[in-house]
Amino acid sequence: MRCVAAVMRDRKADASDFVLKLLSGSPAYPRVDSEEFEETQSQASAAAWNRKFPRRKVEAAHFDYLKVIGKGSFGKVLLARHKETDVHYAVKVLQKSTIQNTKQQGQVMCERSVLLQTLDHPFLVRLHYSFQTSEKLYFVLDYASGGELFYHLQRERVFLEPRARFYAAEIASALGYLHTLRIIYRDLKLENVLLDRQGHVLLTDFGLCKEGVGATGHTGTFCGTPEYLPPEVLQQREYGPAVDWWGLGVVLHEMLYGLPPFYSEHRSEMMRNILQQPLSLGSGVSKRARDLLSRLLQKEPEKRLHKLSELECHSFFSPIKWVELLAKKVPPPFTPAQQTCPGDLVNFDPEFTELPVPLSLGVCGEADLTFSGFSYTCDNAAVVSPQHGKN
Ligand code: ADE
Repeated sequence: MRCVAAVMRDRKADASDFVLKLLSGSPAYPRVDSEEFEETQSQASAAAWNRKFPRRKVEAAHFDYLKVIGKGSFGKVLLARHKETDVHYAVKVLQKSTIQNTKQQGQVMCERSVLLQTLDHPFLVRLHYSFQTSEKLYFVLDYASGGELFYHLQRERVFLEPRARFYAAEIASALGYLHTLRIIYRDLKLENVLLDRQGHVLLTDFGLCKEGVGATGHTGTFCGTPEYLPPEVLQQREYGPAVDWWGLGVVLHEMLYGLPPFYSEHRSEMMRNILQQPLSLGSGVSKRARDLLSRLLQKEPEKRLHKLSELECHSFFSPIKWVELLAKKVPPPFTPAQQTCPGDLVNFDPEFTELPVPLSLGVCGEADLTFSGFSYTCDNAAVVSPQHGKN
């Protein structure tokens, strides 16, 4: 069998896409964010700038594009600096030519409307702006300076249980929140779990989100990387929010064992394993963790653990204080290396950061509204003042 690092590298090459969502409106949970009390100079200047130019259109040329920090089949994610406010963001750029006239166009629209709806959760990446040029779509997002959880796990092989528990709890909290809004995340995988500066989770990439599905509702199509696909999706049966709890089981398994469950280097065998092979959990992981995994990785969705409230009561999570967790008062078990300057990308894979930054990114081109209704600033949403600099 190949080493874990090789498997992880291959998976990385296979990783589909990123994206996200976010929302506005009145927060469903209290935001107790210590950073709100430590407004930096650049945050203050961003706020001042927004007060001065409240309705100014945001466009591609307002940013300096500094480094590539992620890459998927549809585009790139770049670290960018807003020229006037000096605030750093992650900007996801999609080529219209790769999405136009395909089902993906609908997906992007779905993504955008999800982003706009009203998402406000401490463990979800926030969308600040979206805009378009004649060739590209841009999403301006929180910059998660701690990088991908995938990157950290790849370097450490496995995480000890307290650390895996903390990430699983923050992810579960975000999933439970999405489900209350009838949103299925669908694309939970390590590459979509980012860390902020302090080490808290930020889920990103809502490109595959399905809207309009409730706790008992079901929906149709699917796409995703094979090791994360639950049996009901592989069998093209209808599926619901239980797919996300399966996804959490896969991520937790990877954190504790270093590999996804049912893993095989042969895709068809892995699919067969997912459908037929009983889950086998090696010792070296606590009984409580194994019990939770067996409930999340239950092949029959009806029998799978399927509610945040159920999960919160599971003995694996007994050390977690859920109210404090949601308030970001539980200190993260790991603090990502702090960058000495914004361009110093210590938590990002050189596979990305060494890529050239396309020169065309800041070039506005003619105004183009092929994707009507796409462009967005916090001014035309319910949230008037964007939160800045949660990096
Ligand atoms: N990679 C993908 N999205 C990102 C984000 N918002 N921040 C940092 N890295 C990312």
